[in-house]
Amino acid sequence: MTTKIIKGKPVEAVVFDAYGTIFDVHAAVMKCAVELGALARPLSELWRSKQLEYTWIRSLSNRYASFWQLTETSLDYALATIAPDHLALRDAILEAYRDLDAYGDAASALLALRSTGLKTAILSNGDTNMLERAVTSAHLDGLFDALLSVETVGIFKTDPAAYRLVEQNMGVTPSATAFVSSNRWDIAGANVAGFHCIWLNRLRRADEYVDMAPAAIIQTLGDLLEA
Ligand code: LAC
Repeated sequence: MTTKIIKGKPVEAVVFDAYGTIFDVHAAVMKCAVELGALARPLSELWRSKQLEYTWIRSLSNRYASFWQLTETSLDYALATIAPDHLALRDAILEAYRDLDAYGDAASALLALRSTGLKTAILSNGDTNMLERAVTSAHLDGLFDALLSVETVGIFKTDPAAYRLVEQNMGVTPSATAFVSSNRWDIAGANVAGFHCIWLNRLRRADEYVDMAPAAIIQTLGDLLEA
């Protein structure tokens, strides 16, 4: 297997979180920005935070439900709370979530990593069919060796069982794998799982989980191949 030094460590693969890292989770609501006006941003922020909260509560309660179901129910909550006069936008927003835009730096970074012989994959809370559709609609087909969904283990990240999917499916150990996520809580989970963690801090947010730290912090995916 090819190895390459990524942010100070030789690795065999680079595994990415999907939503918020490769795909712009706020792009769905922004498709309805004209109708929503100033409500668009707070709606999208509450939707995302509730979607994630629901994954954590269901994992802690051992009551798994599909990420798509949680995406729908968290949007229903956010619309009722922030934009009760815009419930008619629900289906359009959900359809847009199925076909999220990729961030502008994703395709070129993936191509550059793969040109070095490194394996690339997604490890996501997203259902398999969500990931397959998102990759295709964002024109990223052929840029991942695997699309790994936690639905195969029935528990969400940060449970260790989710991160074990990488070695189980790709045959690469966590210590020989760079894990890239924009979600700092996801980096904390991957740190505990033994990955070479790289936090994609696009919004230059304050750090947290200081005992479960990334090996490196980047602002764009293009920074991955920088020394
Ligand atoms: C994912 C979400 C949690 O793709 O960002 O797993």
